[in-house]
Amino acid sequence: MNAIAHRTLNIEAIRKDFPILATLVNGYPLVYLDNGATSQKPHLVIDSQSEYYRQQNANIHRGVHYLSQLATQKYDVAREKTQVFLNAASSHEVIFTAGCTASINLVAQSYGRQNLKPGDEILLSTMEHHSNIIPWQLVAQQTGAIVRQIPITDQGEIDLEAYGQLLSERTKIVGIVHVSNSLGTINPVQRMIAQAHQVGAVVLVDGAQAGPHTRIDVQALDADFYVLSCHKMYAPTGVGVLYGKEVLLRAMPPYQGGGDMIHTVSFDGSTYADLPYKFEAGTPNIAGVIGLGAAIDYLAGLGRGLLQAPDMSLGLALDAAFEGISNYESELTSYGMKRLSEIDGVRITGTAKEKAGILAFTMDCAHPHDIGTVFDHKGIAIRAGHHCCMPLMKRLGVPATARASIAFYNTVEEIDRLVDGVLMVKEMFG
Ligand code: ALA
Repeated sequence: MNAIAHRTLNIEAIRKDFPILATLVNGYPLVYLDNGATSQKPHLVIDSQSEYYRQQNANIHRGVHYLSQLATQKYDVAREKTQVFLNAASSHEVIFTAGCTASINLVAQSYGRQNLKPGDEILLSTMEHHSNIIPWQLVAQQTGAIVRQIPITDQGEIDLEAYGQLLSERTKIVGIVHVSNSLGTINPVQRMIAQAHQVGAVVLVDGAQAGPHTRIDVQALDADFYVLSCHKMYAPTGVGVLYGKEVLLRAMPPYQGGGDMIHTVSFDGSTYADLPYKFEAGTPNIAGVIGLGAAIDYLAGLGRGLLQAPDMSLGLALDAAFEGISNYESELTSYGMKRLSEIDGVRITGTAKEKAGILAFTMDCAHPHDIGTVFDHKGIAIRAGHHCCMPLMKRLGVPATARASIAFYNTVEEIDRLVDGVLMVKEMFG
């Protein structure tokens, strides 16, 4: 075993924060390498759910009673924490949704439907997740706009030259994934946003896989819209975030109508609530949002622990946490890439220079589903398939890949078990 020298995160202690990591699968200690699909949850998040239903459960923004005020306060505080998490200029630029997919559909149907005309162009990269393709295809069908594809290189990087050539005064929207779920590529979104702005286009960044791994600063990126999938960043399922610049969100019509998003309602016409409530119709996932607040607290706690600064502000604590997380995860990724590349018959998909936490590969001797099944017998959880990226698979010339996706609680020993699993598949099928 090659030891990775890291002076930072205390992985042994961190693993104890995630109770599920102690699970045995088929008699083997679980190796959870399917973090791209969903991350595991620390005690702090799990307990926040039980606490909410035991001690705080009430509807928000509606009641004058004690419990409603308590739940409202916790929900609103979670929004402020999310503002810091994204470094948004204001908390009312943070909209809670049911997930990343819901956030993108909101932008496509509200901003897109209002602003797109026949012949306008929407640029999306080949490596987009289906959730950043289909909503744009739907709004293109509704408006007569055209979806165009930004090609990628063989290494799995955006072809920036082709991107520059595709941008024109017809480009109205660019949708780009920050970190690819299938390749791990970290895209140069800041630069791509600046280029899009030069032709007057707005940019939506899909941050589903960036949220758990990198410090996000929507103001530094100058992103117009940025979306998060919270269950991938240690929070409960059923919560997403849409960040939008205030000037854009204010001009957009509501996406869904219902309670909590109105100012006045009459059969002669209704008026809508101010941001962010205009986009939060109906009772939201209150417990889930509070759980997101707990997940952000957990991450901040890692940062404070790293610097032994218990009173450090949330923003600085997140800076420190993500420095530690990125460093550690990139060491694990490099180690995994090196070990996998030494095995004959293994082809790694995604060799970008800037890469986060994904070890995706195919084997000459076995289909990814067979690899996943053999791994499962040994307690190793990975994802096998097209990863909701069929256009990318077509570009790579494969129907599917086997994908191990890393979180900061994974270890060198677990990467070694993954590699042992690959060697075993080779022996069985080779
Ligand atoms: N989008 C998630 C993944 O990449 C589900 O696995």
